[in-house]
Amino acid sequence: MKRLKTGVLISGKGTNLQALLDAAADAAYPAEIISVIANKAGAPGLEKARKAGVKAAFIDHTLYEEREDFERELDAKLREDGVEFVALAGFMRILTPWFVDKWKDRLINIHPSLLPAFKGVHTHERALESGVRVHGATVHYVRPEMDEGPIIGQAAVPVLAGDTKQTLADRVLVAEHKLYPACLKLVAENRARVTAGRVRLDRDSAPSTDAILSNPSSV
Ligand code: GAR
Repeated sequence: MKRLKTGVLISGKGTNLQALLDAAADAAYPAEIISVIANKAGAPGLEKARKAGVKAAFIDHTLYEEREDFERELDAKLREDGVEFVALAGFMRILTPWFVDKWKDRLINIHPSLLPAFKGVHTHERALESGVRVHGATVHYVRPEMDEGPIIGQAAVPVLAGDTKQTLADRVLVAEHKLYPACLKLVAENRARVTAGRVRLDRDSAPSTDAILSNPSSV
């Protein structure tokens, strides 16, 4: 089986990266993680990558005057490593249209809310403030507009009485760790293609989106 050669971009802890590394440790998983790049020195995710035997690199965005100059380095490194597909996992840097277009439909992101609600930062705090009863996470193809793009899958969690932004974030993160590997699997099996600006799931072989929402690990 040919596995999709995937690069992961991170900025921090890398718990989603770990979930992807764990899934890809199974030779039957249709994607392999071959390169991890962080834009923050000492991002704990880099160590997670090395432990899994995956190439890990740090590219310091502060050294570049223009965003695009940083992205050219990123792009060159990904290509040098032989990456075919990129997953953003807690990568806290807005990408320019130049980079997004270069990797169009080969670039996905995980965002900690049920998009299109709560784009941007502080999603858990804002969910609590707004009084929503259901919150969650979304995996989507990246477009130049922030947190826009065809949705591949979503995982919902309840907002409980007494939740703080931390307890809610923790609950969402557990869901993210199931959702992201499930979505990358769909993409790698070519079962989540973009058609007319939306993701068409291959329903012949895939469960419905509802199944992903309620039980991401079943995909
Ligand atoms: C995750 O909750 C992810 O959804 C979020 O950052 C966290 C990274 O955690 N991403 C964004 O907010 C992107 N805008 P991790 O480093 O432990 O995977």
